[in-house]
Amino acid sequence: MALQDSSSSSPNTSGASSAAATSSASTSQFSPPSSILIIGSGVFGLSTAYALTQRDGYANTTITVVDRAVGHGSGDVVFPARDSSSIDSSRIIRADYADPAYAALAAEALKHWRQASSPGNLGAQGRYSENGLVLVADGSSDKLETSTAVDGVASPAQVDKATKSGADYVRASYENAVALNRDEPDLASRIRMLTDVNAIREAVGTGGASGTSGYINGYAGWADAEKSMAWLFDRVKRTGRVGFVNGTVSSLTHTDGTVTGARLEDGRNLTADLVILATGAWTATLLDLSGQATATGQVIGYLDITEQEQEQLGQMPTLLNLTNGLFIIPPVNRQLKVARHAYGYLNPTRPSATTPLTNTSKPPRPISYPRTALTTPPALTIPKEGMDDLRHALREMLPSHPAIHDRPFTKTRLCWYTDTPTGDFLITYHPKFNGLFVATGGSGHGFKFLPVLGNKIVDVVEGHCPSEFVDRWAWKGGLGDDGDAGVVSTEDGSRGGRRGLILDDEMRKTLTAFGMNDGCYSVDEDPDL
Ligand SMILES: Cc1cc2nc3c(=O)[nH]c(=O)nc-3n(C[C@H](O)[C@H](O)[C@H](O)COP(=O)(O)OP(=O)(O)OC[C@H]3O[C@@H](n4cnc5c(N)ncnc54)[C@H](O)[C@@H]3O)c2cc1C
Ligand SMILES: *[C@@H]1O[C@H](CO)[C@@H](O)[C@H](O)[C@H]1NC(C)=O
Ligand SMILES: *[C@@H]1O[C@H](CO)[C@@H](O)[C@H](O)[C@H]1NC(C)=O
Ligand SMILES: *[C@@H]1O[C@H](CO)[C@@H](O)[C@H](O)[C@H]1NC(C)=O
Ligand SMILES: *[C@@H]1O[C@H](CO)[C@@H](O)[C@H](O)[C@H]1NC(C)=O
Ligand SMILES: *[C@@H]1O[C@H](CO)[C@@H](O)[C@H](O)[C@H]1NC(C)=O
Repeated sequence: MALQDSSSSSPNTSGASSAAATSSASTSQFSPPSSILIIGSGVFGLSTAYALTQRDGYANTTITVVDRAVGHGSGDVVFPARDSSSIDSSRIIRADYADPAYAALAAEALKHWRQASSPGNLGAQGRYSENGLVLVADGSSDKLETSTAVDGVASPAQVDKATKSGADYVRASYENAVALNRDEPDLASRIRMLTDVNAIREAVGTGGASGTSGYINGYAGWADAEKSMAWLFDRVKRTGRVGFVNGTVSSLTHTDGTVTGARLEDGRNLTADLVILATGAWTATLLDLSGQATATGQVIGYLDITEQEQEQLGQMPTLLNLTNGLFIIPPVNRQLKVARHAYGYLNPTRPSATTPLTNTSKPPRPISYPRTALTTPPALTIPKEGMDDLRHALREMLPSHPAIHDRPFTKTRLCWYTDTPTGDFLITYHPKFNGLFVATGGSGHGFKFLPVLGNKIVDVVEGHCPSEFVDRWAWKGGLGDDGDAGVVSTEDGSRGGRRGLILDDEMRKTLTAFGMNDGCYSVDEDPDL
């Protein structure tokens, strides 16, 4: 990679689109557009920008990345926004997937995460820690035990995405993990069935954990998401090939069915031959995603622990319970994080000042948009319903540490997933608008793909989607003009919690429970919803 000093490309802020727009690429016809605008600099957008800079074909392409970039304070521009899903203390890095296609792609990513021999490697400087993962679920352990995988002859398994439970997910994931590491005895030996509560307890090593069955994979870990994004941003910046714009896109601009760029809230216009929309959970504010993806709020709690507790818990594996979605990531720097991988909260509020692009004749219905502490400072950050579940996780997963069970959280956060019905990403040209490509649908598991995702996205841009992902990443079915198919929820066997919880309702219940008056929490009331 050639490193240049600083960015020489500046964003294209002229009035009109210059060349013919790229629509759907086909293998034979693709030629790189002269300008590409990537909206959103989370792991989807920023990894795409990096991949573009690494391909010779784009040497003359103007590449621009725009992001809201909120929360960093002034000074050196740092992307992405601090309330993006890609910024947090930690993200689980695992190749443990019930779906063999993601298991294989994650295994490829894991190889990059494990590189740590020089400070510039992705896995160095505390960006990746390999503490192992214990995946558990309630359900029949027979199913798990009868796996043929133990002798190493299993072929990749896949759960039927329509009927799976947490236990099904765990079983399929185990078989995939064993199959993937079949030829690497060192790695294979780090995968072990846990067939009863004692085995789970021993593997977790905190005296903790109930539950009936699961497995441990020592070949998994967690990443410091914020540090990893800073590493990626730095690499992109150093190519000198990408122009960064700090601004909020209020709408996509288009003429005659062709997207020509984006308008910013401050009135600036950015134009490009190809627009790549990588706005994560905010995507529905700019494009009608009815039936494709829905933003769901997920709870996280952080609490401070003592030096002694840090020593005792620092080496524990990540523990993820697919029956209730609760998980604990091993603490670092005396901070413990507990969270819930669930159906999450919907926030059906009309976004202010944005106009989602739609191909249907009626305006898209407000579906669910992120509300974060940075944009709407709330009286409370998470509902009691979620808080109670996080407490439950502490008690159940760390019975050896009663002092932690009721300790106040130092911080809580709602983090937003972009959920698709199957948990598959949405990486595709828009079926109707030319010049528009969508790269989102992380469904709560996209971060680990940081080192490989951008290359796959650019492959799809060029019309070379890997065959196993052609259907998985495609735009699904209609265009949302089918009435009530708007809101979707992820049914891949990995989610806990209840379906369809409405954030405002849960917040109101929380206020009542705490005896607070409703005025503490104001919500946008929109009679059209
Ligand atoms: C609580 C939680 C836990 C998770 N745990 C894991 C895990 O353990 N392992 C894992 O692999 N993955 C995990 N994920 C999922 C992973 O974090 C996401 O899939 C991934 O970060 C999504 O990246 P993104 O680029 O799509 O979105 P984001 O990172 O949210 O980036 C979108 C960007 O677009 C910008 N943007 C949005 N709208 C506009 C606009 N109008 N104008 C300009 N910019 C805009 C935003 O500011 C933001 O920076 C988790 C997610 C959450 C929320
Ligand atoms: C970029 O432009 C230069 C100068 O016009 C040309 O020589 C080169 O072939 C172009 N590269 C690509 C990949 O189009
Ligand atoms: C982006 O712009 C906003 C508003 O002008 C500003 O508050 C913020 O600090 C800027 N962010 C960065 C990273 O420069
Ligand atoms: C996983 O969650 C289920 C349902 O709440 C619970 O019965 C089980 O004990 C949990 N397992 C662990 C290991 O926490
Ligand atoms: C952006 O485009 C709109 C519509 O074409 C136009 O009214 C506006 O003046 C443009 N803004 C700038 C800063 O040129
Ligand atoms: C949707 O796209 C089709 C072309 O694919 C076009 O014929 C139709 O008019 C569009 N509908 C609207 C409402 O934009």
